Amino acid sequence: MNLATLLRAPRRMASETIIKTIDGQEWIEETAKPLQKAVRHAFVGPAGRELKNFLHGTWLGHPLHPVLTDIPVGAWTAALALDALESISGRKECGSAADLAIGVGLLGAIGSAITGVTDWSEIDGRARKIGLVHGALNVVSTTLYAMSFFMRKGRRTRSSGVALSMLGFAIASSAAYLGGHLTFGEQIGVDHTATADATKPEKFKRVLKADELKENKPTRVEAEGVAVLLVKRGDRIFALTETCPHLGGPLSEGKLVGDAIQCPWHGSELALEDGHVVNGPTTFPARCFDVRVRAGNIEVRAARPGEK
Ligand code: FES
Repeated sequence: MNLATLLRAPRRMASETIIKTIDGQEWIEETAKPLQKAVRHAFVGPAGRELKNFLHGTWLGHPLHPVLTDIPVGAWTAALALDALESISGRKECGSAADLAIGVGLLGAIGSAITGVTDWSEIDGRARKIGLVHGALNVVSTTLYAMSFFMRKGRRTRSSGVALSMLGFAIASSAAYLGGHLTFGEQIGVDHTATADATKPEKFKRVLKADELKENKPTRVEAEGVAVLLVKRGDRIFALTETCPHLGGPLSEGKLVGDAIQCPWHGSELALEDGHVVNGPTTFPARCFDVRVRAGNIEVRAARPGEK
């Protein structure tokens, strides 16, 4: 057994213990549910919906939260290095630069918190609990950094302010660990259709008799093992991937809202025409299929834009 293998086992055990411990806390779930509801209700009316979409990052085609988390993480890491440089070299300008970096990090933390809470309001199960702990740790670290920012201004309180920022860094790092787990372990913020083979079915495959598809009734079919959503509207038939890109919800169990299908799990709306995101929380579009009717049968294949 080599050194890497020896080190991997305790690291994995520690990680599993942390996640299992959080998952075992029922009080976190009881706190999280009403909190999530309150966050969702804070976005009122069409303007609230637009704001929510913006905070999720539907305009970016990617969640906005991880973009903003880089600001406090980067700025506070720089502050730590600058504080260390000041204590080694005695150069006061390093300390001033550290103060500035902490201020920049605090501004970034505000945006990061708002987008994070918005994304968190639309997740369930174990990820909801981990997300709440992640957020609580970030609140504690940001509070410590805010106190540090002001204490650094006083000659007598400066060294305590620097110590507080070190403690804040340790807590922010723990929060970042859980944030990483949410993405890589719980698959929050990733495209849940990304691993599907986008070339399948390569050729048109028969999936349903045309007269069995009811007007405005979202219907699930399969083509070469790929789940496809069919929607008939007048003389047009739309075909989209049946899996919601947000967290994998079954779109065929959703409802039609205008020219979009609304996911039954968290309400993402995806355009029937081309799969673009009409409303989040998903920031990823739905994949579309070419569809045609031949000899009374509906056939679909992987979309080939511009070719029928
Ligand atoms: S799974 Fe969350 S909106 Fe579809």
